[in-house]
Amino acid sequence: MRITRSVQRLEAYVPGEQPKSRRVVKLNTNENPYPPSPECAKVLKGFDLDALRRYPDPEFAALRAAIAKRFRTTSDRVFVGNGSDEILALSARAFVEDDELIASLDPSYSLYKTLAAIRNVEWIGRREGMRLDPKTSLFLWTNPNAPTGVLAPVDEIAAFAKSFRGVVIVDEAYADFARWNAMDLATADANRNVIVMRTFSKSYSLAGLRVGFCVGPADLIAALYKVKDSYNVDAVAQAVALAAFKDRAYHAKTVKAVVKTRKAFVKELEKRGWDVLPTDSNFAFAKPPAPLKAADVFRYLKSREIYVRYFPGPLTGERLRITIGTDGQMETLLKAVDEL
Ligand SMILES: Cc1ncc(COP(=O)(O)O)c(C=O)c1O
Repeated sequence: MRITRSVQRLEAYVPGEQPKSRRVVKLNTNENPYPPSPECAKVLKGFDLDALRRYPDPEFAALRAAIAKRFRTTSDRVFVGNGSDEILALSARAFVEDDELIASLDPSYSLYKTLAAIRNVEWIGRREGMRLDPKTSLFLWTNPNAPTGVLAPVDEIAAFAKSFRGVVIVDEAYADFARWNAMDLATADANRNVIVMRTFSKSYSLAGLRVGFCVGPADLIAALYKVKDSYNVDAVAQAVALAAFKDRAYHAKTVKAVVKTRKAFVKELEKRGWDVLPTDSNFAFAKPPAPLKAADVFRYLKSREIYVRYFPGPLTGERLRITIGTDGQMETLLKAVDEL
C-alpha cells in the first residue's frame, strides 16, 4: 500500500469539537442556535421515499434557479456544493495548476491551508501591503473574515480582484449577518474573476445538511461542474435547502435575532474589560483582560461545559472565538466568566 508523500506530510484540518452531551453550551463552530425554517420539516415529512431510489438531479435545477432569481442572475452563473467546503476543494482542482499557489487573508479560515496541502500546492497567507507571488492563481477572501469577524469594504475586494490575474473567491459564509456583501461583484457581467460563495450552514441553520453555493462568471462556474462528482448534492439536501431558501421571512427573523444578541453580548464583554474586534458575523473574536489568558479561559469554560474555539498561534492565540448563541446561552457564558 502506498500513500503519497504529500498525504504523509499532510496536517489534517481539525474541525471544531462536536460533543455528544446535550448539556454542553456549544459556541465553538458558528452554528445557528435557532432551528431551521419549519418549511424544512414539512419537506422532510412529506418526502417521497421513492425519490431516493433514483439519483438526484445532478444539476440541482430547482435550487439553482431559485438562487439565480434571488440574485437577479442566470442559472449558468450558479453552482451548488456539498457544503461550501466542497466548492473550495473543487476550486483548488479547477483553478490551480500544479506549480501555482493558493493564497488567502491571514488569519483566516484554517481549512484553506489544508486544502492547498491536499492539492499539493503552496499556500500563502497575505498580510496588509504584502505582494503576492505572481504564480498565485486562487485567492480566498473571507468576508466577514473568520475568526476575526471583521468586514472589508467591497471596493477593496473589487480593486484587489482587478489587479489579480487569478480567481478570487469571496467566501461569504457569514455575510447574512453583515452590513454589506460583495454579491454584485459576482453578478456583474464585466467581472471576469470573482466568485461569491455562501452557505446554508450558518444563517439558514442547516450545517448538518451540507449545502453551499456560489455565483460567478459562467465560464468559471462551468469549470466547477466539470470537476464535481456527478451527484454531489443529495436529493434530500436539494429539497430542504430550497425550502429554507424560499422562507425569507423566517431567515430574516433568525438573522435579526442573532445580530441583536451579538450586539448585546459584545457590550457585556466590553463592560468586563474584554477587547472585542468589530464583528459583522455570528461570532465575536475576543481577548480577555489581563492577567487572564485566552487559553486558560478556554480550558476553564470547557470544564464548565461551555465550548468556544481557541486557535493557538501568534495571530490568534490571544483571543477566543465565541459563537453567538441564544440570549440564554450568552448569559450562561457571561455568568461563568464572572465566576472566573
Ligand atoms: C469562512 C468559512 N467558509 C466556509 C465554511 C464551511 O461552510 P460549509 O458548512 O458550507 O462547508 C466555514 C465553516 O465554518 C467558514 O467558517
